[in-house]
Amino acid sequence: MNRTVIRGGLVVTAAEEMHADVLIEGEKVVALAAYGSAAAESWTAEKVLDARGLYVIPGGVDAHTHMELPFGGTFASDTFETGTRAAAWGGTTTIVDFAVQSVGSSLREGLDAWHEKAQGNCAIDYGFHMILADVTEHSLKEMDLLVAEGVTSFKLFMAYPGVFYSDDGKILRAMQRGAGNGGLIMMHAENGIAIDVLVEQALAAGRTDPRHHGEVRREILEAEATHRAVKLAQVAGAPLYVVHVSAASAVDELAAARRQGLDVFGETCPQYLFLSTDNLAEPGFEGAKYVCSTPLRPREHQDALWRALRTGDLQVVSTDHCPFCFAGQKELGRGDFSKIPNGLPGVENRMDLLHQAVVEGRISRRRWIEIACAAPARMFGLYPRKGTIAPGADADVVLYDPTVRQTLSAATHHMNVDYSAYEGKEITGKVRTVLSRGTVVIEADAYLGRAGHGRFQPRATCQYLA
Ligand code: URP
Ligand code: ZN
Ligand code: ZN
Ligand code: ZN
Repeated sequence: MNRTVIRGGLVVTAAEEMHADVLIEGEKVVALAAYGSAAAESWTAEKVLDARGLYVIPGGVDAHTHMELPFGGTFASDTFETGTRAAAWGGTTTIVDFAVQSVGSSLREGLDAWHEKAQGNCAIDYGFHMILADVTEHSLKEMDLLVAEGVTSFKLFMAYPGVFYSDDGKILRAMQRGAGNGGLIMMHAENGIAIDVLVEQALAAGRTDPRHHGEVRREILEAEATHRAVKLAQVAGAPLYVVHVSAASAVDELAAARRQGLDVFGETCPQYLFLSTDNLAEPGFEGAKYVCSTPLRPREHQDALWRALRTGDLQVVSTDHCPFCFAGQKELGRGDFSKIPNGLPGVENRMDLLHQAVVEGRISRRRWIEIACAAPARMFGLYPRKGTIAPGADADVVLYDPTVRQTLSAATHHMNVDYSAYEGKEITGKVRTVLSRGTVVIEADAYLGRAGHGRFQPRATCQYLA
């Protein structure tokens, strides 16, 4: 079998750091041994990667992406092919994307359609969550079948009335079903009914610029929805995972629920940690580049998010990668912020941005790997196949240079989108080499992977539950 040895790096996992060599056979990690030890010296391999001076980390697990998502009359601009290639460039080796059930259709039809889009096109491994847009007796039953197929998480929306929205009764029913079959309910927690009233009033008053997107999607309506989701989950006896948490008061709701002993989890995204309403207020319609939901918040919220990532009240950082080009897509909302397609690009930037937080002393190196690799893998039933470096794990491994400096820019990124949300941001640290199931896909600033290498990953249920 094809053998690779990674020599002399600092292996960093969520649990430990060690100067160790890593032996890979075929698609799997088979052994780790201390650098220079007799065991490590005895290994022979066709390929030896010199990792001296580098970190050797598990490939990133991005548990929230939307390749090719139909939204707001257009499609997210990264396909599974371009988006997973960009992910690989950024040191992410697994994504969990969202298959969509349309209203009037079954989960089966939605999931089959998403398999069709992804199959044969991905550079790295992928799984699916299912967006439940139409909670009916039939779709509730289908949830059981999907769980058995390894689609073990379901996103519901308290926002977007008329599109993805479910009322509290539907949410409760889906949570009850999840409590029975092990499916984890993921919640978009914003009070969309109230927000739509504020949108209508803002537009009628001539407040049409992108910054009003942030103003009408009030923090209090994220906190209220988060609180309601927690209570509904409590009634159902179900665990809950709140996606893209942006407001400090929503974090407080999650922390309070966790203090009560509830199985309530949360993710935030790099855009909420590094960007703010200052970006949404950029003049000349530039703010449209930063329109996403939940929206960016005033800068003060960032400290609460970082604190929650340190204390464990938030467990995961994923990107909610949902890119729309400024030209022709974001521009659909000139003169009406409610027509700007919602979403930001970021699948390529997450590992670097979080490493920058390590450089700045906000999180430890191990916490970086925890929130970006291990925790998302555990949350969504992929651990320890994904999210760590250990014998038996898939050989999804990144050699990361912690000293090299780079400037994030649309001119150099690989995502299929005409702007960077982090244009000009300086980062210390950069991906050197990426292996996906033992195959080198990025090396020395070159992409060596291929569309179709990435495989669908059936997932177990959430591994944080007793
Ligand atoms: O603005 C966002 N987040 N777009 C993607 C859809 C969603 O709600 O996650
Ligand atoms: Zn959402
Ligand atoms: Zn509350
Ligand atoms: Zn999303």
